[in-house]
Amino acid sequence: MTGKIQITLKNGREFCSDQDETILESALKQGYSIEHSCKTGTCGICETTILDAESKAIVGEKILTCCYKPSCSLTIDSEYFEELKDIKSQVSPAKIDEIVHRTEDVLCLFLRLPPRVDFKYLPGQYLDLIVQGTKRSYSIASKPREDKRIELHFKKVPDGEMSSKIFAPISAGQLVQIEGPKGTF
Ligand code: FES
Repeated sequence: MTGKIQITLKNGREFCSDQDETILESALKQGYSIEHSCKTGTCGICETTILDAESKAIVGEKILTCCYKPSCSLTIDSEYFEELKDIKSQVSPAKIDEIVHRTEDVLCLFLRLPPRVDFKYLPGQYLDLIVQGTKRSYSIASKPREDKRIELHFKKVPDGEMSSKIFAPISAGQLVQIEGPKGTF
């Protein structure tokens, strides 16, 4: 079987998927934000159940929408989050505005984005921070604020690559890069 496959969400929204892409890829491409985070099959957040399918043998199966490439039309136990429809992931430079050491091995970074960047996100989303070629994901610790500062929390990991760049050597005013927001909320 080739061509378009119809995916129905539990609240009745429908979108088309191709056999060569995952359900999550198809959903996001067509503006349907369903629950997800890592997109790589590791966090388990996108796990859902097949509620109905052309092929009855797969009904009831648990799948990860970020990994599962459908072979027939099906209904899944996932919801569409209207709240995320206007939120687009982007790559942006950011400046370290402030560093607050909470303890010897925990610190908070406050990032400031260029004024032209409209970085919308919802509580619970995360971003990727890129510092001198090292990229790691961090939950955004602050609610969207008027001054647009973004707060991230770090726990020192012994011999961690990012820890070696964040603790001690980093200073206010340094430029980094962010990619996000990512995930649902
Ligand atoms: S397992 Fe993390 S988004 Fe699918």
